[in-house]
Amino acid sequence: MDKQGVFREAKSWVLEAGKHIRDNINEPLHIETKSNADDLVTQMDQETEEFFADRIRSTYPSHRVFGEEGFGDDVRDLDGIVWIVDPIDGTMNFVHQQKNFAISIGIYEDGIGEIGIIYDVMEDVLYTAVKGEGAYRNGEPLPEVLKNRPLEKSIFSLNTTWLLEENRRVEAEGIRELVKTLRSTRSYGSAALEFAFVAEGLLDGYVTMSLMPWDVAAGKVILEEVGGVVTAGNGSELSMVDRSSVCATRANIHDEVVKGYIRLK
Ligand code: IPD
Ligand code: CA
Ligand code: CA
Ligand code: CA
Repeated sequence: MDKQGVFREAKSWVLEAGKHIRDNINEPLHIETKSNADDLVTQMDQETEEFFADRIRSTYPSHRVFGEEGFGDDVRDLDGIVWIVDPIDGTMNFVHQQKNFAISIGIYEDGIGEIGIIYDVMEDVLYTAVKGEGAYRNGEPLPEVLKNRPLEKSIFSLNTTWLLEENRRVEAEGIRELVKTLRSTRSYGSAALEFAFVAEGLLDGYVTMSLMPWDVAAGKVILEEVGGVVTAGNGSELSMVDRSSVCATRANIHDEVVKGYIRLK
């Protein structure tokens, strides 16, 4: 793949889609629910994904599209070049707050993450990485390697779903111990931004029990580019085709977190 060419194209489409969302942020939304009452989708999620699918297909007919809202292909493996697209990551924030959401695109070749782009649309902040060439925030390089920081001085992003009765994925006790050990926790409601914040050093880790490939595809490329470690909650390699738990942290604390605190059921 002509990585630089594809990156430039992808970046310009992300900026164009982001501007369209910003320009229409006060337009009425058609809000539908998907798998449950809290799982929202709007016409803007759908239009944005369709925009990317159309652009990708007309420019790169041999590439496949793996997207959340169904405009892509039926992707079950990562052979060849696959664009993993989340048109709006943080739809609930988009609906309730009109901010704190992102466009997220990861481009993988034969399973290897080569390009990651996360765009905080309302803040106009663009996080990018091309594998092996460093990560950037609005064109400014992020540190090459995140510094070590002990867990006791770390802030993690965690969502609270592990507290719920129906949480059958992880032992709550381990997460309680983690929360006690950490300096503090946050919860932003956009997995892509949470990855970007770890890469930027605003957060030291992000642990969550259930994400889809489009939530993590770009974030993994960007965070790994600054030396962060991204795995499933048990430390195994993260799936880019199925739902998975996720542990994404600075390198020095990753082992400690997956071995000492996250006990998947
Ligand atoms: C969601 C967000 C949220 C995470 C959910 C995701 P969406 O993505 O990333 O932070 O906790 O699991 O589904 O649906 O807004 O694209
Ligand atoms: Ca969604
Ligand atoms: Ca998402
Ligand atoms: Ca989404």
